[in-house]
Amino acid sequence: MTNLTYHYPFTNPPLPYAYQALEPYIDEKTMKLHHDRHLQTYVDNLNKALADYSRFHNWTLEQLIYNIASLPEEIQTAVRNNGGGVYNHLLYFTGLAPASNQMPTGALADAIRREYGSLDAFLKKFKEAALSVFGSGYAWLVVAADGSLMITTTKNQDTPLPLGLCPVFNLDVWEHAYYLKHYNLRADYIDDLFHVINWEQAGQRYMACFQMQ
Ligand SMILES: [Fe+2]
Repeated sequence: MTNLTYHYPFTNPPLPYAYQALEPYIDEKTMKLHHDRHLQTYVDNLNKALADYSRFHNWTLEQLIYNIASLPEEIQTAVRNNGGGVYNHLLYFTGLAPASNQMPTGALADAIRREYGSLDAFLKKFKEAALSVFGSGYAWLVVAADGSLMITTTKNQDTPLPLGLCPVFNLDVWEHAYYLKHYNLRADYIDDLFHVINWEQAGQRYMACFQMQ
């Protein structure tokens, strides 16, 4: 997701599909609130945190996240929470696509088979990880430093970037991602979300992880 032009003042890019495009798996109202209000708030608060610190205005989102420890102490928490909130949501929204019979292909499909045996076995493990997040956070499919695929989780709006992990896709398990339609049933939301994974995008991100190393 490296985008060298994405820096302060950060904006909230429109969804790459219509709000209702993920129906019946993710409902229109949830997508509208999630993108237009939740993500917008992270964008606004990140800009607010950085407003008085012009020396960071040309830092990309990734640079800020990787280098939180070198930011002034008084904005570290705000950048961690809101910068992470922007990064995680942009990855999540662009990692989804209207339901189709799309499946992983190419190198990503091979890696999933190699690491997990089958797509179904992988999805089962991924779902277990997403269910294991206590409270708010994300489940991730990432490429580890040794090039292997790995499932991991993060809390709140933390990202796996500082751990040297390269994201392939993520799943937002904050209740705001599903409560209107699935109520408290996170497992049902995860099952529904598996229908709208943008595998083409995941495959491209997987390949990009190796180009960055
Ligand atoms: Fe979210």
